[in-house]
Amino acid sequence: MLALGIESSCDETAVALVEERRVLVNLIASQFEAHRPFGGVVPELAARMHLEALRPLLTAAFAEAGVAPAKVDLVCATRGPGLIGALLVGFSAAKAMAWALGKPFVGVNHVVAHIYANFLGENPPVPPLLCLVVSGGHTDLFSLTAEEELRHLGGTRDDAAGECLDKAARLLGLRYPGGPAVEEAARRGEPRFPLPRPVIEGSLEFSFSGLKTALANLIQRLTAEKKELPVPDLAASLQRAVVEGLVAKLEAAAMIYRPRALLLAGGVAANGLLRREVAALATRLGMEFYVPPPALCTDNAAMVAYAGLSRYRRYGADPLTAGVDPALDFPLPPWG
Ligand code: KG4
Ligand code: ZN
Repeated sequence: MLALGIESSCDETAVALVEERRVLVNLIASQFEAHRPFGGVVPELAARMHLEALRPLLTAAFAEAGVAPAKVDLVCATRGPGLIGALLVGFSAAKAMAWALGKPFVGVNHVVAHIYANFLGENPPVPPLLCLVVSGGHTDLFSLTAEEELRHLGGTRDDAAGECLDKAARLLGLRYPGGPAVEEAARRGEPRFPLPRPVIEGSLEFSFSGLKTALANLIQRLTAEKKELPVPDLAASLQRAVVEGLVAKLEAAAMIYRPRALLLAGGVAANGLLRREVAALATRLGMEFYVPPPALCTDNAAMVAYAGLSRYRRYGADPLTAGVDPALDFPLPPWG
């Protein structure tokens, strides 16, 4: 089956064509530069930019893949969670295309789509699996006993891991988006400052707000002492605390659920230290390790197309009366 995927939940307009597990084309129009002066995503600006970017991106995707729109078997778009105005652009365009082409339409959960990025390409993971989704909006642990059989094990009580990195980067005077900037600065530093681990003890839950506050207090103290801020060391210490917290909960969950493989997904999964540490954990526990290539970790539409295919096979099409859901939750029942 050939699936068209459209993603517009936040600040990336993305279009992809996916034939089963094979990505034919995966295009992304990023809005980073437009939002950078504001230090974060401006919802109205995001929606307007999706509107401008989507049509040319669709045209380019079909041209690049050498495929006519009529060949598409299924049209998929992100239904939520995300920014309502941003979601509406991609979701409405996808429904209009499905209607015009007379093809089925499926709305997908963005966080679950991140997990499914691991199923693209050859040698997909075989359940039972444990997946940590770490992005700008989410930090969630899932167990998968089969495709479409997901159980949410734990999440964050406040900020997401990527959100913490983005906010901390601002405190450190690093540019937006913060995750890659923190990683780059950390390469030149030593993790010599003790910072709290962003976890809730005795559970599979996370909490990142305390870590952010601890960093803010440390910066304030160093500034009051009229010391030049050792930004690389602070970035390395922050990155270490975030990664240690994530790995600790993944290990705790792995001991309980004994999966065949550990999976990482979401924008923060592009982080080199996190990838290395989870790979080492998997080796230690005798489990396999999967993580998508960095371009399929951050927001993209190939993951949306594959998640749509998987959902369609289990639940069938969604009605064209379906609407977006900015706070879409788990699990993922059939429409209705
Ligand atoms: O999945 P994503 O593209 O969008 C959301 O669904 O949120 O994730 C974006 C997040 C941002 O917070 C960004 O700072 C973070 O992923 N990120 C990284 C890296 N690349 C992106 N965090 C750490 N290290 C990276 N290399
Ligand atoms: Zn995302």
